[in-house]
Formats: sequence, structure tokens, C-alpha cells
Amino acid sequence: MSALTLALSKGRILDETLPLLAAAGVVPLEDPESSRKLILPTNHPDVRVVVVRASDVPTYVQYGAADAGVAGKDVLLEHGGDGLYQPLDLGIGRCRMVVATRRTFDWQGTVQRGARVRVATKYVRIAREHFARKGMHVDIVKLYGSMELAPLVGLADVIVDLVSTGNTLRANDLVAVDDIMPISSRLIVNPAALKIKHATMQPFVDALRHSTQVTT
Ligand code: PRP
Repeated sequence: MSALTLALSKGRILDETLPLLAAAGVVPLEDPESSRKLILPTNHPDVRVVVVRASDVPTYVQYGAADAGVAGKDVLLEHGGDGLYQPLDLGIGRCRMVVATRRTFDWQGTVQRGARVRVATKYVRIAREHFARKGMHVDIVKLYGSMELAPLVGLADVIVDLVSTGNTLRANDLVAVDDIMPISSRLIVNPAALKIKHATMQPFVDALRHSTQVTT
């Protein structure tokens, strides 16, 4: 049997991924959230986990350094998805990608005037495509986090960001003014690994599909 390497990232998605993996028969021998180790063995002799940054999961899988991984649709769209097979929507990490701004900002007026808008986001590709579809002219400011601050201090008119509970927007007196798309996490697989390691990979994908249907 050829061993499988799974790329996972720490954080909210991991909390929801571990029960699905466990239901599919794969349990890391150390907690990936708290362990400082980057390569973790699992109870399954043919499966190990590597812990990487969320935005790096598609890159590890694309280059075959990991055979499969779990990544948000947001991350996949920003990456481009080249060289990745996406067999399964895991139905976890559900949230929405939105345009948000200060409660007092005249968004409708800005849109109607066709005014140029400054957008702060770490989702540059998603933002660019969204505003291009709407025929709006935008200047995009790339940030790496805490996007909600940008409209409050005059760095941008609006942000493109993920909203889950809405608590972060509310706490900063921001409102969502446009809904871009629903987001959830996907299983991604290296296409070559699917062929070469088929005997291990296919049962793993099938078991995960089953645990997704049972759990969500
Ligand atoms: C995300 C997102 C928002 C927040 C929204 O950040 O960027 O800041 O969650 O969640 P809420 O609607 O439940 O308040 P995350 O915590 O994933 O960290 P990030 O800033 O690194 O993206």
C-alpha cells in the first residue's frame, strides 16, 4: 500500500475536519492544533497528516507534496485550482463571502454614480472578478487580515471578506451590502496521486464521502 499524506491547516476548519476524518477511520496521534510537529502520524498505518497554512494547502497538493488536503472554496478560488481534483464538498466551514462597509457609507449612491471604489481584501482575485462582473471600477488594496479595520480608518471604502456569525462586522459597526457567494471546505486531491495511489486513495475518498453524508 502506498502511504497517503493529507494537508490540513489549523483553526476553525480543522475542528470540523477531524470528526469527519475520524468517521472515515483516520485519527492523528497528536492534536494538530496544539502540536508543534508539522508531520503527524495517524492511527492508520498508511495515512499521515502535514500541518500547513490554510492558503498553502492547494500548493502542497498541486505539487504532490501532499496527496490530498482540505481547503476552503475561498482559498481554492484565490489559488486558481490548477492541477487539483475536487471530488468532495465537505459541507464544513460554511460562511459567506460579502462586500461590507461602514453603516454610514452611501453604498447605493456610490454604485449609482458609478464612482470608483477602493476595496481592501485578502481575496484579490474573488474581489476583482466580482466587481468586474458588476462593471464597477475598483482599486484593490491587498491585506493579510483584520480587513474590518480598513473602512474605519480610511484605508478603503469597502472590504471583501468572509462572514460567519456576523459578530465581527457588528462589533465594528460595519454592514454587508452585497453577497458574493457561499463558501464551504472541499477535499482536494492531486490527480497523479489518485491514479498512482488509487488502492489507498479511493477507499479514503469514499469513506470521507460517507462520513460527510452521515455527519452533515
Ligand atoms: C474571518 C473573517 C472575519 C471573521 C468573520 O476571519 O475574515 O474577520 O472570520 O467571522 P464572524 O462573522 O463569525 O465574526 P478569521 O477568524 O478566519 O481570521 P482571518 O482574519 O485570518 O481570516
